[in-house]
Amino acid sequence: MDAIATIKKHQSVRKFTGESISQEQLTQIEDAIIRTSSTCFFQLITTIEVSDKAKLQQIAALSGHQEHIAACSHFLFFCLDVTKLQHIGAMPKTLPFRVLFSGITDAGLYCQNALTAAESLGLGGVVISAFRVQIAKIAELLELPQGCAPLVGLCLGVPDPKFLEGQKPRLPRSWLIMKEHYQDPFDAAELKQYDEEMQRYYESRVYNQRSDNWTNSARNLGKDYAVKAPSLIAFFNAQGFIFE
Ligand SMILES: Cc1cc2nc3c(=O)[nH]c(=O)nc-3n(C[C@H](O)[C@H](O)[C@H](O)COP(=O)(O)O)c2cc1C
Repeated sequence: MDAIATIKKHQSVRKFTGESISQEQLTQIEDAIIRTSSTCFFQLITTIEVSDKAKLQQIAALSGHQEHIAACSHFLFFCLDVTKLQHIGAMPKTLPFRVLFSGITDAGLYCQNALTAAESLGLGGVVISAFRVQIAKIAELLELPQGCAPLVGLCLGVPDPKFLEGQKPRLPRSWLIMKEHYQDPFDAAELKQYDEEMQRYYESRVYNQRSDNWTNSARNLGKDYAVKAPSLIAFFNAQGFIFE
């Protein structure tokens, strides 16, 4: 499928048939990952593929028991990996903070390329950040050395057609895309209409059906389960990342 058609069909997939992704498909996904743009061409993202069922179950448990992780074919971790700099003697004592920004940006690009490549092959998946609540245990499970930390994950598998939910409606185009300069898009009537559309979407879906809308779910932002910055900073420091 061509790129635009694949991207426009995107929807996260959280139910899989249990079939494995073939080695040929995995190689195509890896090719897409390897081709991804990289800040200053440092190539600091290392991708770790997990397909061992026992490990997938552990990752699921460490990610708030997200059952789609245990049931997927492959889980990919996109890690910031400065050991590459250490090996060539290019590692400063403290890292410029922008290395973290670059890492987060690059990992997102790698992850999206992998997902789009998978979707173009008829596979499906969902981006995962929930493992961050137990990030130190994840690092242990993956045997990550000092200087390597997971930033984002991706669950991949063969979609179970019974559970396809339909695409999630997005905010109005003018709220998401602006021309030349910022224009406050807020419009109470448009928001009400969008919330009603989201309510219908959540109520009609087969998996994780609920009564909800965008405004309600956006209010979860400040809730307790969000991983707090100090715990992530402590993890990065313990993992050998000292940012300045
Ligand atoms: C950085 C990031 C982290 C995410 N983490 C999770 C996660 O931990 N669990 C999950 O089920 N979905 C996760 N998602 C998927 C989003 O919920 C999903 O993309 C969003 O609801 C839009 O739905 P769609 O992808 O089907 O269009 C994540 C997405 C992103 C971009």
